[in-house]
Amino acid sequence: MTDLDTLPRTRLPALLRAMPKAELHIHIEGSLEPELIFELARRNGVALAYPSVEALRAAYAFSDLQSFLDIYYAGASVLRNEDDFFDMAMAYFRRAAADHVVHAELFFDPQTHTDRGVPIASVIRGLARACAAAERDLGVSGRLILCFLRHLSEEAAFATLEAALPHREHFIGVGLDSSERGHPPEKFARVFARCRELGLHRVAHAGEEGPPAYVWSALDVLKVERIDHGVRSVEDPALMRRLADERVPLTVCPLSNVKLCVFDALSKHNLGALLDAGLCATVNSDDPAYFGGYLNQNFVETFEALPALGARHAYQLARNSFEASFAAPAQKAAWIDRLDASFKTALAAAD
Ligand code: HPA
Ligand code: ZN
Repeated sequence: MTDLDTLPRTRLPALLRAMPKAELHIHIEGSLEPELIFELARRNGVALAYPSVEALRAAYAFSDLQSFLDIYYAGASVLRNEDDFFDMAMAYFRRAAADHVVHAELFFDPQTHTDRGVPIASVIRGLARACAAAERDLGVSGRLILCFLRHLSEEAAFATLEAALPHREHFIGVGLDSSERGHPPEKFARVFARCRELGLHRVAHAGEEGPPAYVWSALDVLKVERIDHGVRSVEDPALMRRLADERVPLTVCPLSNVKLCVFDALSKHNLGALLDAGLCATVNSDDPAYFGGYLNQNFVETFEALPALGARHAYQLARNSFEASFAAPAQKAAWIDRLDASFKTALAAAD
């Protein structure tokens, strides 16, 4: 791809929107829009602390990760039945398809629901049914990654894994999310070792608010295959070399990072530095209903705020998203062929 640098900047937003891409860091409970929260609350007879959709949306002003998590867990309390999980995931898949997402690996937090008495079977069956429907009706392939809540104990994570294993065919891996500070990856060493024995893929949030040391231990102790966020890795040059040498993917979430005050502004984001250092960085939406937009919004706003990013970076980010996915090599190659074709079309139109 030689003439990428010649694409006029005015063409960039359309290129970013139209290019096929994978999303690898989306908490499905974080796609729950206020309108759907109110609809599910009505359907399930759940009382909400906010009088209206507008009042709820107005509360989405966060000072850090914890201030977000408190409201995110409250929002998830309206999810009760298998159909609620199906409806939530289908709403996400429809938005993803509109953004030309061809593959999405969805995080879900079973403990947020089982601790309220919702059977794990309802959670997993509803989400798995949505993945099948998305593939059939929207042409988006969806996979599920079960996340352990790191503010809870490793024993609780083991119990969650046990409860989920009868549904093993419906999820491809495990992750680690929730409050990062004070909950280092080492806390979950044994349960991740067990997941590895079971042949599950492994990812973990690290280096979002936590230090680079958490990225090291996610790699060395949990043996994860991707780092979620990982933006604080730039503070440690040896870690940056390791991530580049081993092409460990980082699932970066620019709008999330600004909403949770990891960066003061999008113009201060280090996505360009991560790419320039040779890392396999990707762009993702994290919790799009809470952070101001879905995947294309993340791409367009980030490229607008960072003038150093151009068409070459757009191509690299989309390509990285396929490379970093847990899909089979032949499938990745087919998606990259589609990506190349979409760039050829965009460049030809710009001539
Ligand atoms: N970080 C950690 N845990 C989370 C997040 C996040 O951004 N979103 C949902 N759970
Ligand atoms: Zn996340």
